[in-house]
Amino acid sequence: MNYTEPADLPGPNDPDDAHVFETELDTNAEQLAHGHPATPEQVHASAAVGALVRADALYAGYFPGVNILNGSDLYAQEGELVGIIGPNGAGKSTLLKAIFGLVHVNQGAVLLRDEDITNLRADQLVRRGVGFVPQTNNVFPSLTIEENMEMGAFQDPKSFSARFDKVVDLFPTLGERRKQRAGSLSGGERQMVAMGRALMMEPSVLLLDEPSAGLSPALQDEVFVRVREINKTGVTVIIVEQNARRCLQIVDRGYVLDQGRNAYTGTGKDLANDPKVIELYLGTLAKA
Ligand SMILES: Nc1ncnc2c1ncn2[C@@H]1O[C@H](COP(=O)(O)OP(=O)(O)O)[C@@H](O)[C@H]1O
Ligand SMILES: [Mg+2]
Repeated sequence: MNYTEPADLPGPNDPDDAHVFETELDTNAEQLAHGHPATPEQVHASAAVGALVRADALYAGYFPGVNILNGSDLYAQEGELVGIIGPNGAGKSTLLKAIFGLVHVNQGAVLLRDEDITNLRADQLVRRGVGFVPQTNNVFPSLTIEENMEMGAFQDPKSFSARFDKVVDLFPTLGERRKQRAGSLSGGERQMVAMGRALMMEPSVLLLDEPSAGLSPALQDEVFVRVREINKTGVTVIIVEQNARRCLQIVDRGYVLDQGRNAYTGTGKDLANDPKVIELYLGTLAKA
């Protein structure tokens, strides 16, 4: 769905501009049912019913009065694999950090199973089943793989070995090299450690920020395969990716974020075939 050109979207201070949305929308089921077009907010609100996790009209930023997110919506139903793509600086990492309580949400709400978790601390979110793998500095380099996994399970140390076994099922290398320091591993292996560490808390939703960044094409492929495997074990995954084409191939649904706002959303396939998305976001620079 094409929301509209990003520059035309209403901001927090101009609610009267909400009608701008309506002119841009494609015909959809609600329009047919009610005779008038649904706003993106209405489409989000009805699709997000019963979602495992949802972010409604988030405004968030790093400094008071300066919002980087300008009303972005997102949801993931239980078991879904959801992707977020968009240009550098669009606010993709900020969106994940806002969901994970690392960037202050000034307006809007984050819900987990309909419970308001807006601005909760990261450790409280981990306890509730939200896992987050940041883009950088996501392993403890001086610790061994096993110790990294222990850090992942610090809230529930008794379950360490059972969970480590499950992580090793997904990432056999982590078992074989359990005594090796994370700092001595390749970039691809470190990503496995970072994802494994987050999985040690058995999250119901896993937020991944650009897990394929900086890896060779072969290792990027491996990361995408792993992410799908994690998702197939029942973990809902929200993945931010710079490799937009590849990301859209593996996700159930995707969002294109631009300037802190949703520019497009749809199934991975729809977005990958949308001429506007191709022109604006999947051009030569974004090619895999
Ligand atoms: N820690 C930070 N402090 C202040 N501004 C930041 C910080 N991180 C990101 N920003 C700003 O927020 C905007 C969005 O950044 P980011 O969410 O990292 O984008 P993306 O992940 O889409 O590339 C950018 O303008 C960036 O400069
Ligand atoms: Mg980022």
